[in-house]
Formats: sequence, structure tokens, C-alpha cells
Amino acid sequence: MKRVLIIVCMTAFIGTGLVGISSADEFTKKDLEKWNKEFMSVVKEGEKLFHSALGSNKVSCDMCHPNASNTHPETYPKFQKQIGKVVALRDMINWCIQNPLEGKPLKLDDPKMIALEAYITYERRGKPLEPGKH
Ligand code: HEC
Repeated sequence: MKRVLIIVCMTAFIGTGLVGISSADEFTKKDLEKWNKEFMSVVKEGEKLFHSALGSNKVSCDMCHPNASNTHPETYPKFQKQIGKVVALRDMINWCIQNPLEGKPLKLDDPKMIALEAYITYERRGKPLEPGKH
């Protein structure tokens, strides 16, 4: 009896797994184009923000990080000595907004934060992930 139950459970488990895999794979070329277009529009928004004065002075990110240089998104999360703990990329974006730009930090789920992150990581695309690296 026990063995039958196990087999029934396993069949159900494997069955659901297969359905899950096959339905997760269903997207068309048109879907991909649409998703990529949406992604690139967020990257463009981030690029605009990166060149704007987001704080209280006239300073913008690109002045110190042209083309998102020296932002090292591939090294996050990592220990940052300015903050004194392991942080995410967005925490350092906020650190720069608060310090060099003398502004107010963005909410971590603010669309502007997502856009800045999208732009920075897109600019450094292709780099191998090296979390924790200095
Ligand atoms: C006045 C120059 C200056 C400006 C302007 C500036 N930053 Fe920075 N940024 C720095 C310095 C200095 C650091 C710290 C470098 C370090 O950690 O080694 C830094 C670090 C960073 C890091 C982490 C880099 C790493 O290697 O881990 C990110 C991400 C970042 N800045 C993003 C931004 C963004 C986004 C903006 C605009 C909102 C911005 N910065 C504006 C100087 C600047």
C-alpha cells in the first residue's frame, strides 16, 4: 500500500514538473522582441538619469563614471567600506546620490532606481559575475 502511494505521488510530481517545464518554454519571437523593446526603453531611461543632476547640486553620475565606468556591477553584492557591510549595487547608487550628488536616496524599488541599475548593468554586459570582488 505504501509503495503504491509513493509511486502515485512520484508520478504526479514528475508529471507536474514536465507540464511546468513545457509551459515555461512557450514564448514566440514576437514576445522576445516586445520584452527586449521594453527592457531597452528602461535602459534608455537609466541612461538619461545617469546624465542628469539627480541631487541638489549640478553633479551627474557620468561626470565620474563616463559610460558607467568604475561602477563594477558584476562585483555585487559585496562588502563596501563606505557603508560598512555587504550591500547591493542599488545601495551604492544611493550612496553616490547622497554624497557626491548631495541628494535624497531613491526608494529601492523606485522605477528610477531600476532604470539606473538596468543602464549600469547593460553597459557592463558580458563581464563574468564576480560577487564580493574588490
Ligand atoms: C564626484 C564623483 C562621483 C559621482 C558624480 C558619482 N560617483 Fe559613484 N562613485 C564615486 C566614488 C568615489 C565611488 C567609490 C569608489 C569605490 O568604492 O572604490 C563611487 C562608487 C560607485 C559605485 C560602486 C563602484 C564599485 O566599484 O563598487 C557605483 C555603482 C556608483 N558609484 C554609481 C554612481 C551613480 C549611479 C551615480 C549618479 C547617481 C554616481 N555614482 C555618481 C564617485 C562618484
